[in-house]
Amino acid sequence: MDKITINPIARVSGQVTVPGDKSISHRALMMAAIAEGESRIANLAAGADVRSTRTCLQQLGVAISNHEKETRVAGHGVAALQPCSQPLEAGNSGTTMRLLSGILATRPFLTTILGDASLSRRPMRRIIEPLQRMGAQIEAAPGETAPLKIMGGNLRGIQYQLPVASAQVKSCILFAGLEAEGETILFEPAASRDHSERMLQAMGAAIEYNDERIAIRRGALHALDAAIPGDFSSAAFLLAAALILPDSELTLSNIGLNPTRTAFLQVLLEMGAQMKFLEWHLQSVEPYGAVLAQHSRLRGLELDPKFVPQLIDEIPMLAVLATQAEGETIITGAAELRIKESDRLAALATNLRAMHATVEELPDGLIIRGPARLRGATLDSFGDHRIAMAFAIAGLCADSPTTIQNASCVDISFPGFFEVLRHICR
Ligand code: S3P
Repeated sequence: MDKITINPIARVSGQVTVPGDKSISHRALMMAAIAEGESRIANLAAGADVRSTRTCLQQLGVAISNHEKETRVAGHGVAALQPCSQPLEAGNSGTTMRLLSGILATRPFLTTILGDASLSRRPMRRIIEPLQRMGAQIEAAPGETAPLKIMGGNLRGIQYQLPVASAQVKSCILFAGLEAEGETILFEPAASRDHSERMLQAMGAAIEYNDERIAIRRGALHALDAAIPGDFSSAAFLLAAALILPDSELTLSNIGLNPTRTAFLQVLLEMGAQMKFLEWHLQSVEPYGAVLAQHSRLRGLELDPKFVPQLIDEIPMLAVLATQAEGETIITGAAELRIKESDRLAALATNLRAMHATVEELPDGLIIRGPARLRGATLDSFGDHRIAMAFAIAGLCADSPTTIQNASCVDISFPGFFEVLRHICR
């Protein structure tokens, strides 16, 4: 499937679940791979990015198997990872490349990691610099991009102020810190998703953290037994469909509700969204629950940039929603979106204009004036799963069919997205 046509529909309704959380799945596989003992992980994300992590770990000698809905990882400690003469392939996955680099920086052998064309354009200096300070040797392509060649071992702890709020960079350094001499202390400019901290703590790491400071010491991890909740970032697209289509009512069950991921919900409530929290549970590591969303009259708002790291992956959907809200929505402080799987600010501005929305592109954000009557259009996904899904939802409320080219990239995080959409459309 390289293109898909989305027809306008009346409403969405029903109850759905989404695949397991991508961020948590990457971490569960990697930490289980370096832990002592057999980990059991239920509801692992099925998308291509997490498959990249799995394959890389297998190339490093880790046995990973499926038993019905459970994934088992045979961990023998980080020292049991084996050198791999072939390069590891991270595909489109920034999380695979950046987090795995933290683990490889602890190993006294040479590993090469490659990415696809998009990942090979994304900045790696943000992990190279701190890992080099810890003592790893890293060579990158010109421009400090992938492929990366990492020769690790003999790390020492550092005190490091992250230049940008990034859970990938933070996690990379924490993984390296697990094998470093002394303490590794990180300061973040704003709190990013804390999945690594939670899981490290649950697996017995010597970690202490709050919103600003995270400290970790060398130590082994014990195995993990966890069920991964549905991916909040995938659920966000479906929730948005319910909010903008008249007479809609949709329940999303078993979705991750980690507060460092769900600023999108807070922003939607401020915009006037009608949503109810039906359940809230705390599983061993992560909170999850069910959310019901109904068609709502939304108002535009000026997004407080401090929320950006906690809804970074939801901004494409927020920008589309803003076209259906009354008044102006101003998004700033989001320059990081330019270095995601695509330049998301440029992709959003291009596609929103093609659908006749009123949008202004800023260096670090967007200004969107609504409400707009969206016109059906032929759009590019720019090879970016979140752009493809955000515009599939836009297409549902347009005045004529919308074609999305290069739509198969939804498989990166949400295989089956178009089938789920078909299932809830009335
Ligand atoms: C992720 C962190 C975020 C996010 C990405 C997944 C993670 O990236 O955009 O989709 O799993 O740690 P940054 O760390 O670059 O902000």
